[in-house]
Amino acid sequence: MAAVDTTKVFKDNIFAGKVLLCSGGGSGICRGMTEAMVRHGAKAVIISRTYSKLEKAAQEMSAATGGEVFPVAADVRKPEQVENAVAKTIEKFGRIDYLINGAAGNFLAPFNNLSYNAFRTVIEIDLLGTFNLTKATLPHLKASKGSIINVSATLHYNGMIFQQHAGAAKAAIDALTKHWAVELGPHGIRVNGIAPGPIASTEGLSRLAGGLLEPETIPAQRVGEVDDIAQSTVFLFSQGASYITGVTLVVDGGHWLTNTSPAYPAAVLADIDSKL
Ligand code: HXC
Ligand code: NAP
Repeated sequence: MAAVDTTKVFKDNIFAGKVLLCSGGGSGICRGMTEAMVRHGAKAVIISRTYSKLEKAAQEMSAATGGEVFPVAADVRKPEQVENAVAKTIEKFGRIDYLINGAAGNFLAPFNNLSYNAFRTVIEIDLLGTFNLTKATLPHLKASKGSIINVSATLHYNGMIFQQHAGAAKAAIDALTKHWAVELGPHGIRVNGIAPGPIASTEGLSRLAGGLLEPETIPAQRVGEVDDIAQSTVFLFSQGASYITGVTLVVDGGHWLTNTSPAYPAAVLADIDSKL
């Protein structure tokens, strides 16, 4: 994974004594978000379906930071597994201060090739997974007056082609960010989102763009890095953001402003469909 280093901008121990629970924290963007939090003193529990991947990531992050990262296998679609993960987090570290909802599934799929089950699967992982984990964690966030980051995307801003399943899920997640900010604010809980643009060397970029993107098509003139999302994570969870809630921060170098979703001619779409 590309290097993550937030210590040039933020003080070392701003999250000392705090505990992060992160879904999807065994790989890609959410692993980088977790590593940054641990580097600044937090302890972390990472959850996803694949225990072997989580265990390796936890060991590597602990070695890189000197902090504690604990793996727990859980499918965010299954409330009982999510509740077990929260219980294990409390057993291990005694509290939860920060929650990152990052688990997601995605693939490119033209409407004709998107089955009922395929659409439902992505909605279940991204949207229901975000609801399930937040519901199970809520009593502990109320106790700690904690904070949530929901990982979103920019796919739904202009209706990106072949992405209706993920776009619909992320749009609903953005809605939850606002609903929870309003309802949980009086409990001392801040709720924000981060919408990454395309991020280099990630599963998401390789699935959607074959890993390739022309830097010159992005206003910032470079493709995003995991470190860009890590920096925003540390900021949004820090005291510096204590008056920020209900916001989804777009971290994309201006990508979505200039990269509109193409409208393919009917003949091109028919050709794609005929090959499926
Ligand atoms: C069409 C597909 C498909 C594809 C799966 N399906 N892949 N349909 N095109 N490429 C269909 C299957 O045929 C099945 O429908 C249904 O989806 C469920 O598939 P399963 O394999 O049974 O599901 P499951 O094992 O739960 O796996 C979920 C998954 C998988 C989403 C399908 O790819 C996964 O585990 N992904 C996790 C990692 C990931 O996606 N990371 C990228 C996140 S990036 P039928 O009808 O046949 O039963 C992201 C945003 C990126 O979220 C934005 C970048 C700019
Ligand atoms: P990634 O490495 O594939 O991360 C997704 C994670 O979700 C994996 O660790 C996966 O682990 C976990 N997961 C999938 N299904 C799960 C389930 N049912 N229960 C629990 N965990 C599950 O992909 P990424 O590209 O870094 O994406 C991370 C986040 O950023 C996602 O929310 C994505 O939508 C968002 N995003 C990414 C980009 C990008 O350019 N990459 C852009 C915009 C938004 P297991 O397989 O072990 O379960």
